[in-house]
Amino acid sequence: MTDTRSNPFKPSAGFTPPLLIGRNEVIDDFVEGLDDGPGAPSRLMRITGARGVGKTVLLSEFSRIAQERGWDVIRESASKGLAARLVTHLRTEKGSFGFRVSPSISIANIAGGSLGEFHYESPQQMPLTLSDALHGRLTELEKRKTGLLITIDEAQATSRDDMIAIATAAQDMNTENRNFAFVFAGLPSMSSKWLNDEATTFMRRAEPHMLADVPLDDVAEAFEDTFTESGMTISGEALRTAAEATYGYPFMVQLVGYHIWRLVRRRHPLNPVVSMEDAREGIAKALVRLGDTVHGPELDSLSPVDKTYLLAMAQDDGPSSTSTIASRMGKDVSYASTYRARLLDAQVIEEKGYGLVDFAIPYLREYLREHAAYIRMSIEQC
Ligand SMILES: Nc1ncnc2c1ncn2[C@@H]1O[C@H](COP(=O)(O)OP(=O)(O)O)[C@@H](O)[C@H]1O
Ligand SMILES: [Mg+2]
Repeated sequence: MTDTRSNPFKPSAGFTPPLLIGRNEVIDDFVEGLDDGPGAPSRLMRITGARGVGKTVLLSEFSRIAQERGWDVIRESASKGLAARLVTHLRTEKGSFGFRVSPSISIANIAGGSLGEFHYESPQQMPLTLSDALHGRLTELEKRKTGLLITIDEAQATSRDDMIAIATAAQDMNTENRNFAFVFAGLPSMSSKWLNDEATTFMRRAEPHMLADVPLDDVAEAFEDTFTESGMTISGEALRTAAEATYGYPFMVQLVGYHIWRLVRRRHPLNPVVSMEDAREGIAKALVRLGDTVHGPELDSLSPVDKTYLLAMAQDDGPSSTSTIASRMGKDVSYASTYRARLLDAQVIEEKGYGLVDFAIPYLREYLREHAAYIRMSIEQC
């Protein structure tokens, strides 16, 4: 019966959901890039979007598709030493011979030299080294008539040196028409991080995909299918309420699904039909988790003035006038507009017509109101 089954929803960062909602277009573009061969625009992609919108999960789907075609896949997350780690992967994974490299050595934080058998490079050398490693690996793969996908997650954290090394290597391979694809995913700030820099030029050339919230009709359909698949029923008012509560925000889709499913299994395992009460309580539980895992960390990553700006917005029930926010902050409009621009860039807020802004993250207003006293205190301590 249902109570022996595990919860199909996956409300955890990076976990593949039971149904990947609303991403067909970007997946089609990726597949087209693989089909069209070297030089296709979507063989170099940049995926941006707010926390919890589904970037990591999309990279997993791309990896699955590439592997299905027999491609090799290297998945990395940007942190110090990225280019060096890529070199290690390129030279040690299957299909590559003739290099004496120990993959167990951590290469972060070292500037260049030699450690046992392992020879590593200074930042000046790195573009050449990476290019060389990529060249070697692709030559091996092309002999087997296959290619290589490299995905870089959390790309907003890539250092300039690493990005230049990657840009140089990718450009070298492009001029050689090699069979590879690069996909970067990160927070929106990654596209504008290095102004007028060669790293930025490279990033800007990547085909942009801004992941947004998914349509509510698709959410409702996915709920219906996932509940049915696991032996439960959700329909009518309960289904509509559950879908609307997600605002189409993918992480919230998983949270709402997970908590409703869990309540129903506990409450009526023998007749697992979702009632309105189950839906409402599941949504309430999902909201608490959303606060802990999304709103809290999101606010932690912002400056005290950013937070003051958001608290001023939270006084309104709907879109806020930017001049009213400035006066609530006790500042002039041009001062406030600097922070408005930063928050827009981070996709925490969005423009809603001339001189109006609103929250871009669902339930952030409610969270700010509920935690206003605590947030003000944390601002004053800065
Ligand atoms: N297209 C989608 N449809 C349904 N659920 C999704 C979708 N994309 C992501 N999720 C779910 O949302 C949560 C966050 O996904 P993740 O890829 O970690 O986001 P990000 O990397 O953008 O922060 C996970 O629980 C995941 O299962
Ligand atoms: Mg992620």
